[in-house]
Amino acid sequence: MAVSHVSKAADWKQSVVYQIYPRSFCDSNGDGIGDLPGITSKLDYLQALGVDVVWLSPVYRSPNDDNGYDISDYRAIMDEFGSMADFDTMLEGMHARGIRLMMDLVVNHTSDEHPWFQQARQSRDNPYHDYYIWRDMPTDGSLPNNWEAAFSGSVWEPNPATGEYYLHMFSKKQPDLNWENPKVRQEVYALMRFWLDKGVDGFRMDVINMISKPAGLPDAPVIRGGHLQPSFGMVTNGPRLLEFLREMKAQALDGYDTITVGEAPLATIQQGVDITNAQTGALNMLFQFEHMDLDAIPGDGRGKWALRPLALTDLKASMSRWQNALWQTGWNSLYLSNHDQPRPVSRWGDDGVHRVASAKMLATFLHGLQGTPYVYQGEELGMTNARFACIEDYRDIETLNMYREAVQDRHEAPAEVLARIYVKSRDNARTPMQWDATTHGGFTTGTPWMQTNPNHAEVNAAQARDDADSVWHYYRRLIALRKQLPVLVEGRYALLQPEDPNVYAYTRALGGEVLLVVCNFTPHEQAFVLPAHVAFETQELLIANYAVNAADSVRACTLRPFEARMHVLR
Ligand code: GLC
Ligand code: CA
Repeated sequence: MAVSHVSKAADWKQSVVYQIYPRSFCDSNGDGIGDLPGITSKLDYLQALGVDVVWLSPVYRSPNDDNGYDISDYRAIMDEFGSMADFDTMLEGMHARGIRLMMDLVVNHTSDEHPWFQQARQSRDNPYHDYYIWRDMPTDGSLPNNWEAAFSGSVWEPNPATGEYYLHMFSKKQPDLNWENPKVRQEVYALMRFWLDKGVDGFRMDVINMISKPAGLPDAPVIRGGHLQPSFGMVTNGPRLLEFLREMKAQALDGYDTITVGEAPLATIQQGVDITNAQTGALNMLFQFEHMDLDAIPGDGRGKWALRPLALTDLKASMSRWQNALWQTGWNSLYLSNHDQPRPVSRWGDDGVHRVASAKMLATFLHGLQGTPYVYQGEELGMTNARFACIEDYRDIETLNMYREAVQDRHEAPAEVLARIYVKSRDNARTPMQWDATTHGGFTTGTPWMQTNPNHAEVNAAQARDDADSVWHYYRRLIALRKQLPVLVEGRYALLQPEDPNVYAYTRALGGEVLLVVCNFTPHEQAFVLPAHVAFETQELLIANYAVNAADSVRACTLRPFEARMHVLR
């Protein structure tokens, strides 16, 4: 078995991961679409930032109904992104810089244009038919169950050739694979080995906790009128999930030196503990979503679009439960953003006057926790949400479908629907990377597939690297700290002042050392008093987003808007 040549032995716990969304990262040939040579041209940038691992969103052949999360050939590169030779060059360039590569593994579903599905849909006795999930189509037009797909509408799509419906948890061009079929599982393990044999270092596994469906696919609980109901709760913890993942580990991962993270919407703590357990689990880490769901109204059928403000006490309670539950049994992944989430500085910071301070505060909060931090492209610049004037400027299928349903079917006011999009649309994170102040932010010399955020004139990588006080340099220093301080990796977490609605403060303890992280989540001054039980003789300020007066006391101080400090106490 191939063992990749970059040495790494379990150092994923010390690693910081950088996520690239290739379509929006860097365009090398002026067609307006980011590509693999574009990524290769920016590897020095990633090395300067200090990241250890890249998670690359899908680059496989795809008709792009969901920007590559609908794959029609798992062993080929998307035409717009380049060739397999371009991929090999990129991978070599990463390894030469000591950067490892995690591919995105999207195997809950394929594209409907994948040859398996093209075969499967032809007849009930086609050998590929059982690769997917089917139900008879009743003549009265009723649906097999009441599940709503993630991107609106029913999860069931008619297939006239066989007189059946097929199941799709996402768009109708993303039919779900039938993991109950052992042949499907062997196909997946084989394609994983294909990429591992090429030298990739692991996988980020797309909605991996959805692969085991509940027997009989029963109706979802009814939480609103009308017949379609949120359906993720029905499939994110299926009866064979752990069994499938352990089999995958044994048959596709063991023998390779890999880093793995599973995307797990609605994951419970128990699921996190089970899946990331070093002895009995299957993956290194999970992306859980509890903290991402805190600013949506619970139980509201509009899901993530049902907005409410974040209560900091909720964030503390949620993060603390995960920090404590996985302590010495599993491992957390730490993230505030990715290609599906709005920009954190717009969401929980202030993307106006306090943009720089609040971006640094959020970074301090996240990187001080136990787990492996993820930085999503542009987060290290403090990039902000986009606010495009009209729906025609948006590209994301989830956003467009939601807008159509709300405006056309439910006659909601377009301005109100757009306001929700400004807060929560996935396109907020997908505008082109802002490299410099030139036209289109230096992302492309052509016309970008989606507009650049107009603030690229002020917010861009060239500016940030020239400015010692930038968000970028702050991330670089935070990432470097992780390499120097074992307490950042191993220290035991403890929350301070759980009831304080404004300041999030916590400690991490290892041996005689205590890391203290204090973050003001508000645009106002806040008083902070260190609880008396935190004892120490000396203190050292590791990093802060304001100049801290040497005479300032760790015991009691006034925090400025979005101020963050990280100390080590001994
Ligand atoms: C994951 C991806 C998201 C995609 C969905 C379907 O949530 O992160 O971008 O749309 O799965 O593959
Ligand atoms: Ca291109």
